Amino acid sequence: MILSVKNIKKSYDDGGVKLEVLKGISFGVKKGSILTIKGPSGSGKSTLLSLLGTLDNPDSGDILINDINLNDCDDFSDIRNNHIGFIFQFHNLIPELNVVENISVPALISDKKVDQDFLDTLFKYFGLSNKKNSFPLDLSGGEKQRVSVMRAVINKPSIIIADEPTGNLDSNNATKLINLFKKLNKDFGLTFVIATHDTKVFNIGHQKMELSDGKLLNL
Ligand SMILES: Nc1ncnc2c1ncn2[C@@H]1O[C@H](COP(=O)(O)OP(=O)(O)OP(=O)(O)O)[C@@H](O)[C@H]1O
Ligand SMILES: [Mg+2]
Repeated sequence: MILSVKNIKKSYDDGGVKLEVLKGISFGVKKGSILTIKGPSGSGKSTLLSLLGTLDNPDSGDILINDINLNDCDDFSDIRNNHIGFIFQFHNLIPELNVVENISVPALISDKKVDQDFLDTLFKYFGLSNKKNSFPLDLSGGEKQRVSVMRAVINKPSIIIADEPTGNLDSNNATKLINLFKKLNKDFGLTFVIATHDTKVFNIGHQKMELSDGKLLNL
């Protein structure tokens, strides 16, 4: 398993009242597979992904990424830079940097050289070869989202975590993005954990789960 989650619990303090969002969640994700998670708004999908992505800590339980237990880490930078790629609903590109520079940010942060062959392959895959020097402001919404996917995968992370990746796209661009996820998974063996309300995205999961009432159910 590239990702193992064991009995994690997470609650928030909601104005003095304890709001139990995750009530003991366990699952595993195999390397090279896609896990999709659905669930009503407020069921805790983003909360769960933020824990997997080391952006927040669970109250209890264990998360192992590539056999590294996050509870044993006091510095998450290696995990974040080398093991996790993030894709959000909003692309979060840096407006002052052009497309190539935006994509290179994770490599710069982790002090790695950008794999130029992989970068060229991705540009062809993503149909963005003619946009290398463009700035985010000059791209369409779908193009911006594809650039943010390139940025998430450039370091070939162990897991790509995507929270509502098509939430802000029209159906044409959503379909393009879904096909890219499938291709990246098939051709490069990339592992995805995706939270989504979009049935078309949900259906690409090799493993499909629903978050409901603080528990994760296998579908
Ligand atoms: N930092 C926080 N402090 C307090 N409550 C929070 C915090 N973050 C999330 N919550 C609450 O936890 C619950 C789960 O939120 P979360 O964002 O994980 O849901 P979600 O399943 O991603 O919803 P959506 O489908 O709308 O994105 C919600 O009731 C939310 O209000
Ligand atoms: Mg959410």
